[in-house]
Amino acid sequence: MFVSLEGPDGVGKTTQAALLAERLRAEGCEVVQCREPGGTELGERARALLLDPAVTMGDRAEALLFAAARAELTQEVIAPALDRGAWIVCDRFIDSSLVYQGLGRGLGVEPIRDVSLFATGGILPARTLVLHGVDRRDDEPDRMEAAGANFHARVAEGFLELVALAPDRVRLVDARGGESEVAARIWAALEGLQP
Ligand code: TMP
Repeated sequence: MFVSLEGPDGVGKTTQAALLAERLRAEGCEVVQCREPGGTELGERARALLLDPAVTMGDRAEALLFAAARAELTQEVIAPALDRGAWIVCDRFIDSSLVYQGLGRGLGVEPIRDVSLFATGGILPARTLVLHGVDRRDDEPDRMEAAGANFHARVAEGFLELVALAPDRVRLVDARGGESEVAARIWAALEGLQP
């Protein structure tokens, strides 16, 4: 079963991905936890380039680099895990590209969806949980976080619009409150898929 966690920077996805993986393991499931971009040698190197504030790149190059990292992660990690019946909990996936590159950069949702589906060979999460409602960013901004307030406003708005784009797959989850409260909402949002 393939689940992705999404949302704007600083919404607490990474903590929640770890809690979800822990809970699934406690239920006896094999869980593969991954993040995007990353999870492979190519993906981690692409991540370093994509997030380095000292690297300049055009919006199209950025979109393709995210897609290349996704192609590698899907082929090397996600597809084999799905084949053996494991759970995959992925911190970001195709929807981050739809929102950040498609809407934030203004490249358009359709072309970015086409590129991303080409990258994954059509593989999509069974459910995508979009966290929203808080901003806990605190470190030095990386290249994406430094993209400006207007960009991040389009991103935050874009995540809320995702449900309308894919109502069968995407669920909004309120990320306000304590970690365990949010984790319980995430578990509830997996109704129909839980082990
Ligand atoms: P994070 O893993 O710390 O959330 O950082 C990844 C950053 O990259 C974050 O700002 C979102 C951005 N991103 C995109 O712009 N497009 C994508 O397709 C993905 C996966 C991430």
